[in-house]
Amino acid sequence: MTSYRKILEKNKAWAKHKLDIDPEYFSRLVHVQSPEFLWIGCSDSRVPADQITGTEPGEIFVHRNIANVVDHTDLNVLSVLTYAVDVLKVKHIIICGHYNCGGVKAALYNDNHGLLNKWLRNIKDVYVTHKIELEAEQDPSKKLDMLVEFNVIEQAHNLAQTTVMQQAWHQKQEIKIHGCVYSLEDGIMRDLIEIKDNESIDEIYRLKF
Ligand code: CO
Repeated sequence: MTSYRKILEKNKAWAKHKLDIDPEYFSRLVHVQSPEFLWIGCSDSRVPADQITGTEPGEIFVHRNIANVVDHTDLNVLSVLTYAVDVLKVKHIIICGHYNCGGVKAALYNDNHGLLNKWLRNIKDVYVTHKIELEAEQDPSKKLDMLVEFNVIEQAHNLAQTTVMQQAWHQKQEIKIHGCVYSLEDGIMRDLIEIKDNESIDEIYRLKF
């Protein structure tokens, strides 16, 4: 059996298992989607948003890309964000990075990755912002961990600066941004930053409504 066939078989078994436990499972889910969370995480196959958070289908709206970047010109992340905030009215946005992130590691060095260079540039910019602290660290693996953490913090700020978030907070919508980092070694998510209003946004990025 090919590995793709195996996936289809596993899917059938999963659907059957769900129906065995709860015959209404799919008919209930098909009508409504009201997740409380938006997850912005890395595409890394070892960091599956729903499994590590113990959430079920319907509970978490997910966007993943290489190294959990929030680029203010990325139509994809901005579309997901707009839908999650304006339509789904999520209460929490979780930006989750992870240690040993291949994307962050690639950005830390100078190899040519073709098209990816443009994407990794976002993380190189994070490096430049925190250059003094990063270059004080001699251990390469600790330095990578630091860049992973700084990347989460900067992406949380990038998110807060978006028009969508500023407008939501201006309209008194209750929505928090949580930046955290996941460890592949112990499976634990650790908090790094929380942003809950326009106050922490640098003056230059603040919009008047
Ligand atoms: Co990664």
